[in-house]
Amino acid sequence: MRIAIAGGTGVVGSRVVRLAEEAGHETLVLSRSRGVDLAAGSGLDLQGVDAVVDASGPATTSAAKSRTFFEAVTGGLLRAEADAGVAHHIALSIVGAAGIARGYYAGKALQEQVIAASGRPWTILRTTQFFEFAEQNAMALGPWRILPRMRSRPLAAETVAERLLEIAEGPPLGDAPDLAGPDEFGMAELLREILRARGERRRVLEVPLPGGFGRALRDGSILPGPEAEIRGPSAAEWIAAR
Ligand SMILES: NC(=O)c1ccc[n+]([C@@H]2O[C@H](COP(=O)([O-])OP(=O)(O)OC[C@H]3O[C@@H](n4cnc5c(N)ncnc54)[C@H](OP(=O)(O)O)[C@@H]3O)[C@@H](O)[C@H]2O)c1
Repeated sequence: MRIAIAGGTGVVGSRVVRLAEEAGHETLVLSRSRGVDLAAGSGLDLQGVDAVVDASGPATTSAAKSRTFFEAVTGGLLRAEADAGVAHHIALSIVGAAGIARGYYAGKALQEQVIAASGRPWTILRTTQFFEFAEQNAMALGPWRILPRMRSRPLAAETVAERLLEIAEGPPLGDAPDLAGPDEFGMAELLREILRARGERRRVLEVPLPGGFGRALRDGSILPGPEAEIRGPSAAEWIAAR
């Protein structure tokens, strides 16, 4: 198969690219560092592509910027897919995000709406936070690392990439079953475990974010339901393997 990966240089996208190539597929990476700005929407040619995996995302916490990004990127990809006759659009979203639709999640909610209304063949996979998210999103302040207070049931980015490739190799599913990791963690607790295992003596501070977005992170709104698929490794196994 020929698989295009939007955000194929990112945490999960780069893993999808590697796994797809190991499985013998041809890949096309769509990201700014590879000369494709999906938000600007120019020069996108998907001729010969069988499936598009969208693992792109903006670095923002602003609802307006997130909406602008996901509307432009998703709309542009879907139009290019229609022009080229691409048989499957796969998007990676976040468990609970569409129901919250504030801050960064406002863009994820819009992304899901645009896909569902597109009339194109699609799958949306919603997962919990990646283990890597704890470090990726921690703000550095001298010796401190600061994270929002957040309940999650995180999983490995590699596990997410494996599932995305399985989906790309199969038929469109519409809403795929949610995917989550084995154990519930506070994100700050997870980062403390990661740093402790590396022998780093940094202090991790957990800050309750204000407003409805912050409340949703704390109150279990982004935890998976009982029907979610659970896949390892556990956080302890993942930390030990690093
Ligand atoms: N992190 C999590 O815990 C988590 C959990 C569930 C779902 N998700 C979703 O998974 C997706 C990927 O997350 P991630 O953490 O792997 O992202 P990431 O590491 O921040 O990577 C983002 C990717 O998007 C690309 N990108 C950004 N702006 C672009 C543009 N204008 N045009 C083309 N490419 C652009 C980046 O490449 P360039 O900079 O080279 O353009 C990069 O490859 C996001 O949609 C996110 O909402 C994340």
